[in-house]
Amino acid sequence: MHYTRMRPAPPESRTLKKPVNLDDYELLAREKLPGPAFDFIAGGAEDELTLRDNRLAFQRLQLRPRVLVDVSRVDPSTEVLGQRIDFPALVAPVALQKLAHPDGELAVARAAAAAGTVMLLSTISSVSLEDVARETEAPKWFQLYCYKDREVTRRIVQRARDAGYRAICLTVDVPKLGNRERDFRNALQFPPDVFPVNLAMEVDLSAAPPEARTSLEAAGAAGVQHPSLTWEIAPDLTWADVAWVRSLTDLPLLLKGILTAEDALLAAEHGAAAVIVSNHGGRQLDGSPAAIDVLPEIVDALGGRVEVLVDGGVRRGTDVLKALALGAKAVLLGRPYVFALAAGGERGVRRALSILRAEFELAMALSGVTSVAGITRALVR
Ligand SMILES: Cc1cc2nc3c(=O)[nH]c(=O)nc-3n(C[C@H](O)[C@H](O)[C@H](O)COP(=O)(O)O)c2cc1C
Repeated sequence: MHYTRMRPAPPESRTLKKPVNLDDYELLAREKLPGPAFDFIAGGAEDELTLRDNRLAFQRLQLRPRVLVDVSRVDPSTEVLGQRIDFPALVAPVALQKLAHPDGELAVARAAAAAGTVMLLSTISSVSLEDVARETEAPKWFQLYCYKDREVTRRIVQRARDAGYRAICLTVDVPKLGNRERDFRNALQFPPDVFPVNLAMEVDLSAAPPEARTSLEAAGAAGVQHPSLTWEIAPDLTWADVAWVRSLTDLPLLLKGILTAEDALLAAEHGAAAVIVSNHGGRQLDGSPAAIDVLPEIVDALGGRVEVLVDGGVRRGTDVLKALALGAKAVLLGRPYVFALAAGGERGVRRALSILRAEFELAMALSGVTSVAGITRALVR
């Protein structure tokens, strides 16, 4: 028998029937989605240095397992902002999910509920925030982009509160859209049914002035049906607005997109209940550090005053373990679940989340910890 013949083909050339890890979903999504849609999801800003480093930074960290611990029972459940979750990975806010699958955000809401975790819904969702809220009883948080028109912003926050969202997560790293060159090259256009529904309920999208019709046109590409993704998002957002958003509701406020101890401390001073250490999955400022690399500095500066979450590059249960060891309460998962949505709708997302959970439980067991409370910085080097 020639063993060489039995070697599996490289993943790229295999038809993946049953994904065994999160990266497999990227391969499936690449097969399923039109190129420009795949690139919009997968890509980052400019040279994609930060996008790559989000992964590499996790790979540079090593685990320090303890042995001879009884791990016959491992409990991956925890709490974020007083909310019990079955394992410490939340579903990150991702815009326009109908681009990946016709069920879009509704499928993701069902899958997150089944996994016992929290979904963060993007302001730029392709299903209305009310319809997503009605889809499941499970707790959801609303990710807020602050619009130039603060009255529109106020109304959207009010709608989120009325619909039962349990926290407001203000994203602070998009005063302008990052320079995503894949989208320029592809002259990305969104299908007519994929548009920011929540904003469309407040303003007339067709009234967007020509200069707002995405910078793609500025780059000489073909016209688009919709205004740019970030049309009307405030470029003049400051700490004063954070205090204002805080005043709009009693819901806990998270700030997403914090990368320095200085800003984390300001967030705490301005009444944030939590910060999300994030570089927006490498889609905004290229050359900003991997989120996991700056997590310890932020955790140390805050000294437990507010909760800290992190996202960017989480692909393995061991990544979740590393993030928690460095002081995060939980991580957020971005692209992998969107690829899973493209590959298999709700079932795909359910399975992706259960893969991550199983990997995390195994990583805990093999590191000799049986509860989230037992995960400490001594676990990483
Ligand atoms: C296609 C896409 C759309 C996104 N849309 C939003 C958004 O509307 N609001 C937001 O706060 N973050 C958005 N993000 C950033 C994610 O919430 C998250 O920070 C990032 O994807 C995490 O990195 P990961 O993809 O490596 O897991 C988006 C990310 C992707 C990939």
